Amino acid sequence: MLDIKITPAQALKPQPDPDKLVFGKTFTDHMFLMNYDAGQGWHDPRVVPYGPLPFELSCMVFHYAQEIFEGMKAYRAPGGQVQLFRPYENAQRLNSSCRRLCIPEIPEDDFVQAVKAVVGADRTWVPHKVGASLYIRPFIIATDNGLGVHASHSYLFAVICCPVGAYYPEGINPVKIYVEDQDVRSVRGGTGFTKCGGNYAASIRAGERAEGQGFSQVLWLDGVHRKYIEEVGSMNVMFKIGSAVITPELTGSVLPGITRKSCLELIRSWGIPAEERLISAQELFDAARTGALEEAWGTGTAAVVSPIGLLAQGEEKVTVNGGSIGPLTQRLYDTLTGIQWGTQPDPYGWVEPVE
Ligand code: COI
Repeated sequence: MLDIKITPAQALKPQPDPDKLVFGKTFTDHMFLMNYDAGQGWHDPRVVPYGPLPFELSCMVFHYAQEIFEGMKAYRAPGGQVQLFRPYENAQRLNSSCRRLCIPEIPEDDFVQAVKAVVGADRTWVPHKVGASLYIRPFIIATDNGLGVHASHSYLFAVICCPVGAYYPEGINPVKIYVEDQDVRSVRGGTGFTKCGGNYAASIRAGERAEGQGFSQVLWLDGVHRKYIEEVGSMNVMFKIGSAVITPELTGSVLPGITRKSCLELIRSWGIPAEERLISAQELFDAARTGALEEAWGTGTAAVVSPIGLLAQGEEKVTVNGGSIGPLTQRLYDTLTGIQWGTQPDPYGWVEPVE
């Protein structure tokens, strides 16, 4: 159990209009910080006013990207209470990223306590509007000063929060996705299964190209065969082909999404077969041509469940479900958001209150 010192902000900031929230632009009044030093372990857990911190420009994270993060949300239930969604899953994934990036792990209970401490301090920032939530960004950065390439001996764990609406400007309307044919995001043995900043840095060029052509994001193919579908980067992907749901298996270069896992559990509980396996872009486009591809959607904390209305590869474009959200995508969205916002029962025990 952490002994968290709380220093309240003296002046509270004006809060944005919940109908005009832009993803990741406005931050709350407080942040959680905790330092790590070799020989001392994690120490000085604290909630302090949100603000800038001084770093030397030789700080390791600026040069070698020894950094990992998580994405999670706090939701306002109808009775006013604030709740998290499967926070221990985030704690476990953070530690999996820690092991790959040689960053010291954080005990799961301490991670969840830290998140609850800052969300509790900023609970008035959790929007009172279904569809809007408080996005929580826990992250760890290497803070040694120096240019030698090795694991840092000191780290900072921080949690910052921002009220958000839909991640895509399209909202629940279907997005357009381009199958990336030049860059690769990750290969097995790399860091694809972690949430490290480097994965996202590598994705920016393809994302910019796709956006320039009117697409929301790219669909990554595996880095070896350039054939099998992996993920979108800000979300995992699922396809309804015939009577089954197919999603790329977790080969090591795909992020093990918590929304992905939750959707698979829901789909299976509804008696719908869900396959986690390799699926090639060829198989997907063949299924689209024959009409077997009934629905496609992405899953992610930020993206929730986002229907995909159009897929493009090179010059070929296929429309999915006439460019509209399909019935299974809608059911997943309604059930998941119902549990998260507390408007539906939570038979799985996924929701965790912030006292
Ligand atoms: C999330 O869904 O929480 C993510 O981390 C995606 C993010 C890069 C916007």
